Amino acid sequence: MPPKKPKQKFLKEFIKEKRVVGAVSPSTKYLGYKMLENIDFSKAKIIVELGPGTGVFTDLILEKMGSNSKLLVFELNDNFYEALNTRMSDPRVQIIHDSAEKIKNYLGEDEKKQVDVVISSLPLTVFPEKLRHAVVDEAYDCLKETGVYKQFQYSLQAKKLLESRYKDVSIKFTMKNFPPAFVYTCLKK
Ligand SMILES: C[S@@+](CC[C@H](N)C(=O)[O-])C[C@H]1O[C@@H](n2cnc3c(N)ncnc32)[C@H](O)[C@@H]1O
Repeated sequence: MPPKKPKQKFLKEFIKEKRVVGAVSPSTKYLGYKMLENIDFSKAKIIVELGPGTGVFTDLILEKMGSNSKLLVFELNDNFYEALNTRMSDPRVQIIHDSAEKIKNYLGEDEKKQVDVVISSLPLTVFPEKLRHAVVDEAYDCLKETGVYKQFQYSLQAKKLLESRYKDVSIKFTMKNFPPAFVYTCLKK
């Protein structure tokens, strides 16, 4: 049997774990460009990605980030983790098979509040409330004061929660994804 294509792989994982995977197909590169828009990668030393799936955004982040920066990627789904971990050989990236509310466990003592960028694709609206809050709080705690949190969602349901944490939340919408998506840009100050 030939290996499964990313779209088939994604649908299969969605059918198995709807409330974890949260989407029927991988995002478009276009949504990836929107997620990374206006991030100053020349200054970003520590970058965290939450929920990479098949790695559409991971590839784009690696293209943009500096040679001395590092990228920590958290993926909970076994098959996505295995596939990404096998595919990635870049020494700047660490693929972590753990849940997104555990970011601090993988940062050094001097790095715990020094993350520059968090790129999240987590399906917050299908998460139980406790997990949703734990993930958003963990990302907030890890970010430095000038850090940026990017999140895409298929609805505006996460707006209230993100606005309750971040001082500045702006939202853009794109049709160039299936389903169309909202991109949240959240700043601490
Ligand atoms: C909507 S998909 C997005 C995948 C990919 N970034 C994309 O845009 O095509 C959400 C991803 O988050 C992962 N995920 C869900 N809950 C998670 C958690 N608690 N910690 C880490 N990853 C999680 C899922 O396995 C899935 O890969």
